[in-house]
Amino acid sequence: MKKKTRKAAPRRTDRPRSLCVLILAAGRGKRMQSRRVKLLHFLGGRSMLLYVVEAVTGLNARKVLLVVGNQQDEVRTSVEAAFKRKVRYVVQKQQLGTGHAVGEARKELAGIRGDVLILNGDLPTLRKETLQQFVKFHRENGALVSLLTTVAKNPAGYGRVIRNYIGDVARIVEDSDTTPEEAKIREINSGIYLVDIQELYQALEQITSSNRQGEYYLTDIVEILRREGKRVAALQHRDRKEILGVNNRVELAEAQKILRLRKARLLMLKGVTLVNPEATYVDHDVRVGRDTIIYPGTVLDARTSIGEECTIGISCHISNSTIGSGVQVLDYCRIQDSRIHRNARVGPFAHLRPESVLQEGARVGNFVETKKSTLGKGSKANHLSYLGDSKIGKDVNIGAGTITCNFDGVNKHRTQIEDNVFIGSDTQLVAPVRIRRGAYIGAGSTITEEVPANALAICRGRQVVKKNWARKHRSVLEAAQLPRKSSRGPRRSAEAGKSTSRSPGAGRASRRGKR
Ligand code: UD1
Ligand code: CA
Repeated sequence: MKKKTRKAAPRRTDRPRSLCVLILAAGRGKRMQSRRVKLLHFLGGRSMLLYVVEAVTGLNARKVLLVVGNQQDEVRTSVEAAFKRKVRYVVQKQQLGTGHAVGEARKELAGIRGDVLILNGDLPTLRKETLQQFVKFHRENGALVSLLTTVAKNPAGYGRVIRNYIGDVARIVEDSDTTPEEAKIREINSGIYLVDIQELYQALEQITSSNRQGEYYLTDIVEILRREGKRVAALQHRDRKEILGVNNRVELAEAQKILRLRKARLLMLKGVTLVNPEATYVDHDVRVGRDTIIYPGTVLDARTSIGEECTIGISCHISNSTIGSGVQVLDYCRIQDSRIHRNARVGPFAHLRPESVLQEGARVGNFVETKKSTLGKGSKANHLSYLGDSKIGKDVNIGAGTITCNFDGVNKHRTQIEDNVFIGSDTQLVAPVRIRRGAYIGAGSTITEEVPANALAICRGRQVVKKNWARKHRSVLEAAQLPRKSSRGPRRSAEAGKSTSRSPGAGRASRRGKR
């Protein structure tokens, strides 16, 4: 940051001036082309507005006010869920512009001696350190209005900062009201202001809506106060990436990328290896422990927490789950609302649906799906299984292709498998059912009743062996094929082809006919 305005003598004050915050969040955000208001669009796992609310919490303001209007219930709910009762609301019934929005907060602010930090709600990449510096700048300068500005390569869409011949800020011109000359100015208004509360409200009384958009622009107070000879200062911020007023989905994606790379950098500096940070997607609230390695294409979202020394493979998607230390999640897994304890192993290609729990050292392998199921310490389901509504004890082996039949078409039922059970491959466990400790289930069984401890249950057709059956069968086949091959003409073979494609039965019939 560099200071653009000449330093002025500080205002004479006896008591420290209070600081209030006013966030503008009543607009609809038409340019998003969405049913949902702009500020409730998500990036990095939380709504745009929450980043701004969080950024101002570092200022210890006397009051934090939020101007709400469009979808105000949803906006309030979202803010309350994250920042319980730290914010007060002001309702702007009709959205007549940013100046009008600030006007609606008059009752809450009038009478307070101090400054208000006004900011747009659509600045998700803004950092709290920047706001702290801005407050310091404003106080040291003794200005009545301070603007945070930045220089943009492409200033289109933003209000331009017009300076006079000695470089002081004269006014702000909205993009749609610029002359071709003004449109070339690259210093833009960030939508972040610090204003003396008394001066703010006397200036707001003078603004009109005579402009291209027919709105009451907050930005007009700059020219008004300037003309009255009041001191206006501007702090030019160097990092354009922080001053991103998101208006449409292109800008949403830009902001998202900035936040994502910021989070990636933070994780790396705290000891997490990201094989390709550009291609790793970690939400704002996710925690990852030291010496964990994350491969590309992986998405960690919502309130996921990952321990130390884990490996998270290629293209895994883990949501709202807790993963202990030393866990390996191999490539291409989907894990949702689940808990995986230390040293467990998942995947590749596993699907852990909500309320799956893997106790220490448990393993779930390829093409295994779990839902509302617990796998005890050291238990394994390594291949091709569905485990739903089940409780599985310690050191259980679930053979390949095992399925808990938990749904009878109306209700869900539970399967209980106690410690040290061995379930042979291709077993169906028809719930509700319980397998007592140490029991064995023979492969290919369909288990419908409780199996006592240490028993063997086996439920499948008995094997029948017919000696030399195959040899006889082949000779019959060969005998049938030989004459047909020798008599095959071009027209007939076409016919045969047609008949086999109709149905196997029809094919057999025509062959028989030819014999
Ligand atoms: C605004 C500034 C522009 C600046 C840009 C920075 C004005 C007139 N213009 O333009 O100079 O460069 O931000 O991103 O202020 N809102 C309300 N009530 C309303 C209208 C808007 O609460 O009646 C809220 C919106 O929800 C939003 C914020 O004010 O959070 C800014 O509104 P937006 O329409 O995005 O302003 P810009 O046109 O971007
Ligand atoms: Ca904006």
